Amino acid sequence: MSKFTSYTASPDRPSIHSFKLRGARMTLAQEKAMNAFWPVFGINPDTPIDPRATFPDAKRLIMEIGTGMGESTALIARDHPDDGFFGVELHRPGLGALLARINELGLTNLRLVEEDARVLLAKYTPDHSLDAIHLYFPDPWPKTKHNKRRIVQDDLLPVLAQKLVPGGYIHIATDWLPYAIWIQEVFERSPLFTGGVIERPEFRPITKFEGQGLRKGHVVTDLKYFTR
Ligand SMILES: C[S@@+](CC[C@H](N)C(=O)[O-])C[C@H]1O[C@@H](n2cnc3c(N)ncnc32)[C@H](O)[C@@H]1O
Repeated sequence: MSKFTSYTASPDRPSIHSFKLRGARMTLAQEKAMNAFWPVFGINPDTPIDPRATFPDAKRLIMEIGTGMGESTALIARDHPDDGFFGVELHRPGLGALLARINELGLTNLRLVEEDARVLLAKYTPDHSLDAIHLYFPDPWPKTKHNKRRIVQDDLLPVLAQKLVPGGYIHIATDWLPYAIWIQEVFERSPLFTGGVIERPEFRPITKFEGQGLRKGHVVTDLKYFTR
């Protein structure tokens, strides 16, 4: 599969998308970054990952679902040089922008995967291979008829638990209060996780996206759930 292949539905991919298939037009800078750095830092769809083999010396192995434009992804990777990160995203301009940041910051501890995170986790990630999963500002799908598109669903939790190490965790942040409540309800229904709302951790930088929400008066909720 070419490195420029965009997401296409196939029988083994979820038919309900948790992401918006927005215009995938990249700026020239993003395209240049894609050409130069995807072969070094990128992992194509339908490709298994082996986190420990990729980062043999990493203290912790962390996957971020939905890196967007990658501002916080890059800063967190920069601030945690001993950890190894996998950023998962389908929005190609975002992947291009993040590749440019990886180059600017000289990061060596971050790989990008162009894939639906649900497919990557279920099919292409070894069991108990991740210390943590980050999910920052997942699309909130606020209309009731779209709630089924939210990535946090009952059937995602067994997959998360299977891919995390025992005692591993998922850290979620959202600025959409009804989604924060939804997330708590989903996790409380599951025997696989324990946790709840936490204080905003200092390591999580404020992205442009989060700043926009804050300016609109949105309250940001951080949640952390550990596998039991
Ligand atoms: C609202 S944006 C937030 C981006 C970023 N985390 C931030 O805080 O700025 C949500 C992102 O998640 C991505 N996304 C949604 N569902 C996804 C999935 N199943 N796999 C990978 N990425 C996904 C979308 O493409 C989008 O870029």
